[in-house]
Amino acid sequence: MSSLFTPLTLRSLPIPNRAWMSPMCMYSAAPEGPDTGAPTDFHLTHLASRAAGGAGLVMAEATGVRPDGRISPWDLGLWNDRQQEAFTRITAAIKTHGAVPAIQLAHAGRKASVDKPWLSDRYLTESEGGWQPVAPSAIAYDGLAVPHELTVEEIQQLVRDFADSAQRALAAGFQVAEVHGAHGYLINSFLSPASNHRTDAYGGSFENRIRFALEVVDAVRAVWPEDLPVFFRTSATDWLTENPEDEREGWTGEDTVRLAKELHAHGVDLVDVSTGGMVRDAKIVAGPNYQVPFADQARNQVGIPTAAVGIITEPQQAEDIITGGQADAVFLGRELLRNPYWAQHAALALGAEPTWPDQYAYVVKRRKR
Ligand SMILES: Cc1cc2nc3c(=O)[nH]c(=O)nc-3n(C[C@H](O)[C@H](O)[C@H](O)COP(=O)(O)O)c2cc1C
Repeated sequence: MSSLFTPLTLRSLPIPNRAWMSPMCMYSAAPEGPDTGAPTDFHLTHLASRAAGGAGLVMAEATGVRPDGRISPWDLGLWNDRQQEAFTRITAAIKTHGAVPAIQLAHAGRKASVDKPWLSDRYLTESEGGWQPVAPSAIAYDGLAVPHELTVEEIQQLVRDFADSAQRALAAGFQVAEVHGAHGYLINSFLSPASNHRTDAYGGSFENRIRFALEVVDAVRAVWPEDLPVFFRTSATDWLTENPEDEREGWTGEDTVRLAKELHAHGVDLVDVSTGGMVRDAKIVAGPNYQVPFADQARNQVGIPTAAVGIITEPQQAEDIITGGQADAVFLGRELLRNPYWAQHAALALGAEPTWPDQYAYVVKRRKR
């Protein structure tokens, strides 16, 4: 029996398997006008096709909780009725294929206001449709604009923005809300001493640096139903302190274990464990499973369910992560872009039952692989 294709229940939500679609920005929403930030036919195809492809959970990309929280002007957003209505179509399509619709709620912080990566990836000025980014401290991400240092009132408004967006996500039919706390974006930039130099209640000590993350989690948890799960994506390390040749102080794997304990106590149901994104020039040696040890650490030292992500491409590789107890689920990113039907093929390879739609099953089942 395949562990990867064994269902996982979080709170009261059954998730049909543990091979999930990782959130991936598509830079394909309207940047202005009445449909700003609303998902389009492209997003519908992008997400629904991975659900038809057998992913047990399909997560919509980093979605800005407010306009300046988008990474680029072409990001998805969820702060108005029009966007909420457009997302309703997406969640219905994902559910049609038996997958769980999830959304990543995000604020890009000091890494906001950039061009599409396949064009230039550079900072866009206000005259180019961009805006001044915001952050815990006025320290620029390499090559981007110096951010506005948030006031305490602005921080408290941001907490409410996450909650409002979560409420809209629920109304649009999402069953999982993930708080984006990774990759150097706003929440992550509060956590790390590399980007948070505040001297008030939101900076300095570990407890102060995690305060904003926990306030967002509490606010989202308060509007998210008791029987549905909340996830938190974290960057387990900035890859600074771990590197003996790098003198900069960063967030570490041990900090992540401490944070995971707090997240667990604050009602987070799964930690989605990524790494990096805090500084452009961190030295990262990436390879298959390179982030898995961090998911393992949080899961087994804290006792909170985790998901692993990062260069997981082979069915047996994913199966071994689950069987070995390193994580409860895996997220796949680029491999699902290459092959939307990866999970159906993985099920066959691992001796589990694929979940082809009825419309396909009666014909494709005749051939084994
Ligand atoms: C095109 C693209 C867009 C991405 N956008 C997001 C995002 O919106 N939110 C996020 O947390 N990670 C994002 N990521 C990171 C992926 O979710 C994933 O963690 C990463 O690609 C590693 O997994 P992989 O090796 O399976 O691709 C993105 C990655 C890619 C390739």
